[in-house]
Amino acid sequence: GDFRGALAAASADGDAARRPMALVLSAIYWRNTWKYQARGYRHFFWDSGAMLANLLAAAGALGFEPRVLAGFVDREVNALLGLDPEREAALEIIPLGPLSPPAPPAPPVDPIDYPIVPLSSEAVDYPALREIHSASMLDTPEVVRAWRRAEPLPARSPRAPTIGLPEPRREAGRAFGETVLRRASTRQFSHEALSALELSTALASAAGGIPADFPSQLVSLYLIVNAVEGIEPGSYCYWPGGNGLELLSPGDHRSRSAYLCLDQPLGGDAAAVIYFLAPLDAILTRWGNRGYRIANLEAGYCGGRAYLAAYAQGFGASGLTFYDADVGRFFEPHARGLDAIFVTALGRSARGGAREPAPLRIR
Ligand SMILES: Cc1cc2nc3c(=O)[nH]c(=O)nc-3n(C[C@H](O)[C@H](O)[C@H](O)COP(=O)(O)O)c2cc1C
Repeated sequence: GDFRGALAAASADGDAARRPMALVLSAIYWRNTWKYQARGYRHFFWDSGAMLANLLAAAGALGFEPRVLAGFVDREVNALLGLDPEREAALEIIPLGPLSPPAPPAPPVDPIDYPIVPLSSEAVDYPALREIHSASMLDTPEVVRAWRRAEPLPARSPRAPTIGLPEPRREAGRAFGETVLRRASTRQFSHEALSALELSTALASAAGGIPADFPSQLVSLYLIVNAVEGIEPGSYCYWPGGNGLELLSPGDHRSRSAYLCLDQPLGGDAAAVIYFLAPLDAILTRWGNRGYRIANLEAGYCGGRAYLAAYAQGFGASGLTFYDADVGRFFEPHARGLDAIFVTALGRSARGGAREPAPLRIR
C-alpha cells in the first residue's frame, strides 16, 4: 500500500506525502554494541551521518531535493517499518524526489511481525542505550512541531584575527561516483603534508550545512594541524563564514593528538585532525534529549563530507573515537562549555594515495 500519508503524519511534515519515496535509516543495536557497548549509541548517529553525506550528495546531484527529518513520532515510524525498539530503531527519514500531489490517506497500519534470522546466537543488551533512546523520543506530531520551533543557538565569532585559507575548490579531480567507490577509512597515514588548498576544500565541504529539520552548525570545527603547507603546526578553530583559522596554541601536537584519539596512532600521523565540538547543555536546553541525537548526527555528517572532499582530491580520511573530557580540556579556554562530539583525521595514506579497491577474486 501507499503509506506515505502515515509517514507524513508521523513526521509532522507534508514532504513525506508529496515526494515519490522516502528512505528511513535505522540502527540494529547489536551491530554496533558488540564492539562499542553503550557508546554504540553515538555511533548510530555518526555512522548514519556518514551515510547521509553520501546519500544527500547523490540524491542532490539527481535533483531529488533530499532533506533529513530527525524529528518524528518514533513509535509510529518504528511500527510502520515493523522495527522492535528493544533491538532496532528508526533514526532519520529522508523524503526524496520531485514534489507531486499529496498521497491519498494511508491504509490502516497492521502490525508487522515477521520471523527473523538472528544476527548472533546471543546478543548482549545495553539498557543505558535503550534508556537514552527512549528518553529522546517524541510522542505526538504536535510535540514534533514544537521541537522544530526551538530557538537556534547564538552565533559564535572569532576572538582573534583569523588566518585566511585559499578559496576552496569547487571541483575536484574525481567525479562523485568514483569518489564514493574509492572512499574508505585510511588505516595508516604518512606524515606527508596536505596543501592549504586541500585542507580548505575539506573544511569548507565539511562545514557546508545539512538540509534538515534542525539548524546546521550545532557543531564547531576545532583542529590540530600537524603538516599543512603554509600553516604553522598547532591547534586552531575553523570559522566557516570567513573560511579562516584562528590559532589557539602553536606547536607540534602530534603525540597529544594520538593520545586524544583514544591512543590511536592515526590521530598523530594525520596531516590534520578535525575535532567536532558542540555546546551540549545549550543544545539539550533547546532541543531536549533529542538534541543529543542531532549533535552527533551533524558531526557524523560533517565528518562524512570531509571524507568525500578528501577522496575527491586524492587523499584519505578516517573517523576516530576519542577521550571525551580530555578533548574538551585540550581546546580550553577557547572551547570552554563545548563537548567533544566526533573526530575525523585527514592525510595521505602511508600506502600511497587513496586506497585502490582490492581486485575481485572468485574462488
Ligand atoms: C563514525 C566512525 C568512527 C570510526 N572510528 C574509528 C576509530 O576510532 N578507529 C579506527 O581505526 N577506525 C575508525 N573508523 C573507521 C571504521 O573502522 C571504518 O569506517 C569501518 O571499518 C568501515 O570501513 P570503511 O570506512 O573503509 O568503508 C570510524 C569510522 C566511522 C565512520
